[in-house]
Amino acid sequence: MARTPFIAGNWKMHKTVQEAEDYIQGLLPRVYSADGVDVAICVPFTALQAMVDSTRGSRVEVFAQNMHEADHGAFTGEVAAPMLTEIDVHGVVLGHSERRQYFNETDKALSYKVLAALDAGLKPILCVGETEEERERGDTERKLRHQVQEGLERLSSDQIAAVTVAYEPIWAIGTGKVATPEQAQDAIAFIRALINDKAPDGAPLSRILYGGSVSPDGAPELLALPDVDGALVGGASLEPESFARIVDAAVQVAAA
Ligand code: PGA
Repeated sequence: MARTPFIAGNWKMHKTVQEAEDYIQGLLPRVYSADGVDVAICVPFTALQAMVDSTRGSRVEVFAQNMHEADHGAFTGEVAAPMLTEIDVHGVVLGHSERRQYFNETDKALSYKVLAALDAGLKPILCVGETEEERERGDTERKLRHQVQEGLERLSSDQIAAVTVAYEPIWAIGTGKVATPEQAQDAIAFIRALINDKAPDGAPLSRILYGGSVSPDGAPELLALPDVDGALVGGASLEPESFARIVDAAVQVAAA
């Protein structure tokens, strides 16, 4: 079953609206002919509207980096799914390790967020991954099992197939230390097997990305791995040129 490769750039807390506008003018011509690859940028809330407007009619989709699970309510500082869909945002990153670490996001809350995103028509990217300590202790699979099973707990098998999972080993995020192809393939194949347990029909369709220090030079090897369907890119997504080179690597793999 062919899965369309997906390259998503996670800007984190970078770029004002003006900087985002400059960036997108540099990116659009570079990814114009990236046929066969889905491309998204995950941008701060303040830049969502501008990026939705500037990418309309292009292949670049615009994602938020978080949302609340409730539709509305007394949750100061939060943003709800209907607020994102109202301005034509396409999707949302959920459970990034920085959100889990600094903002105490739990697997339980994430299970509600993923469901709320799907119900609203947003495409969720659910992030999972182990710490260095967990990997050294031999606890990688246990951690992934917990995060995947709890995160997808409230979904039907059809809904599960619509979720993109991003495997991001925490020790590889922003460190320049990329997982080896073997580590990435093993972890992602394991995640696919977990999805298969919950949704045998959906698992072959589920897209699973690798994230963690993905660079233009390292991308071709990672993207060619059999279970890796794309990348969630942090640092290297902040410049249109390096991000477009990663999209290009996905185009090459898709065409091979
Ligand atoms: P990085 O970030 O590519 O800078 O390691 C990846 C991520 O956090 O999504």
